[in-house]
Amino acid sequence: MAIRPVLRMGEPLLLERAVPVTEFNTPELHALIQDMQDTMASLNGAGLAAPQIGVSVRLVIFGGFKSARYPEAEEIPYTVLINPVLTPLDKETDEGWEGCLSVPGMRGLVPRYTNLHYSGFDEHGQVIDRTVHGFHARVVQHECDHLDGILYPMRIQDMRDFGFNDVLFPDLPVEDD
Ligand code: NI
Repeated sequence: MAIRPVLRMGEPLLLERAVPVTEFNTPELHALIQDMQDTMASLNGAGLAAPQIGVSVRLVIFGGFKSARYPEAEEIPYTVLINPVLTPLDKETDEGWEGCLSVPGMRGLVPRYTNLHYSGFDEHGQVIDRTVHGFHARVVQHECDHLDGILYPMRIQDMRDFGFNDVLFPDLPVEDD
């Protein structure tokens, strides 16, 4: 297990389209996921995508955390999601503030689909198939965007809604991402 450095915006690898995972339940895959888990936990992240630690494969982890900043996050179970397929259920979107471990110290207001179906596989190759809403849907969309080389600032509609976390939200506890 190891905490790995998180690549920051400006790094070309973060803009690449990641490749699918082809082999499940391998020691390499388990080791990668363990490193991602250790890294996410050490930084109080809501989620982490493999490209953020420099491995350009279609794998994200998210959830299973408690955060003063995201009180609604408790309902998201810890999830390893591989080769995800996302399908919005309708056209409804809502805006919410997002941060990212690859864009430290910043926050931006981002529209996301409110109602989402997603599927994929866990590390053992078991199918994951869920319909989710709200914050859970937002986290999945944010993390899976990383697999297509998209960082949340690219989705901000009004750049006036982008700034430093401690300036935008001076009363919230300071966290890294
Ligand atoms: Ni991110």
